[in-house]
Amino acid sequence: MSEPLLRVENLRTQFGRRDPLVAVDGISYDLRAGETLGIVGESGAGKSVSVRSLVGLIDDGEVAGSVEWRGEELVGAKPRELRAVRGSGIGMVFQNAEAAFDPIETVGRQIVEAVRANRDLSKRDARTEAIDLLEEVGIGDPAGRFDDYPHEYSGGMAQRAGIAMALAGEPDLLIADEPTTGLDVSVQAGIVDLFRDLVAERDMSLLLISHDLGVVSQLCERIMVMYAGRIVERGSRKQLLDSPRHPYTGAFLRSVPDVDVRKDLEPIGGSPPSLDDPPAGCRFHPRCPAAEAGVCDGAAPPTVSFEDGGEDAERHEATCHGYTDAHPGGDAFDREAVEWIEPADGAERGER
Ligand SMILES: Nc1ncnc2c1ncn2[C@@H]1O[C@H](COP(=O)(O)OP(=O)(O)O)[C@@H](O)[C@H]1O
Ligand SMILES: [Mg+2]
Repeated sequence: MSEPLLRVENLRTQFGRRDPLVAVDGISYDLRAGETLGIVGESGAGKSVSVRSLVGLIDDGEVAGSVEWRGEELVGAKPRELRAVRGSGIGMVFQNAEAAFDPIETVGRQIVEAVRANRDLSKRDARTEAIDLLEEVGIGDPAGRFDDYPHEYSGGMAQRAGIAMALAGEPDLLIADEPTTGLDVSVQAGIVDLFRDLVAERDMSLLLISHDLGVVSQLCERIMVMYAGRIVERGSRKQLLDSPRHPYTGAFLRSVPDVDVRKDLEPIGGSPPSLDDPPAGCRFHPRCPAAEAGVCDGAAPPTVSFEDGGEDAERHEATCHGYTDAHPGGDAFDREAVEWIEPADGAERGER
């Protein structure tokens, strides 16, 4: 297999020294060329901080661990190197697209600038390229809209223009953080379709962050579930949607309307912990219907892997006390309360 484009190891981001808030607490993953990976979780889980930490966009916190981009270490890299990676290798799209633009400059000129910052093109060729980009992202009459200012674009059009900006450097990886959040549902659907087309046509990788599992599951082959600064489950889209193993993933699925229509909607009880003083043991235990006192609130839970979904399946892992044979009070862990916690037929389990 080829080397991953992006290799994240034990990424940890902390704000403040006296009363530190650890927003991202040791997460690891790889992303290969052409892959689509989603990170989902409730608001405050650390999703945005985790991706901003990758590319040097944390200015008031400390980032530790390792982030290798094509083998080059980005943690601790010079601002100039990080800007170069953001300019060409990695494109970024954020929720608030208008913020990606300078309000007093036209959209077209800003895209031209982004194109020329990364590619040696004449002004004229860069203008043609910028118009092509606007067209590619679905802006009607791109030449006519070229001279509009950002505020003259609607929310959906601004998001498309923001995507054009992110594409200006011909990135190999697009990182999109809540790119559809706050947009009307019909506009959201158009943006999802656009990402799908772009990934297919440009042979780009996608790292998509969203609190909306519906959006992530429409675009990503692999999904990671983040809770309180940590990854609690990872696997293929199918593995996560069909046989979620972590009680949090199950609860999350049942709280989302589009994804699991078979079940009645149930909001997850309680709220996520504050990251400046997270619960001991499994951070989900205070909200978990299957939590067992003396176990789940004690040691950090182990990561257990599951072999389900056939031979070409992704690695499927959950970080939960509920699957360990060493689980001292096996019966007390209320598996009945969490129907999805029992491995599906034929699935094997093994501890890592
Ligand atoms: N610059 C910052 N200084 C202090 N705390 C921050 C900063 N940025 C984010 N946080 C905190 O980090 C945690 C994770 O935030 P974030 O990554 O934005 O969550 P998500 O994107 O999953 O909603 C939150 O508790 C948030 O308040
Ligand atoms: Mg966020």
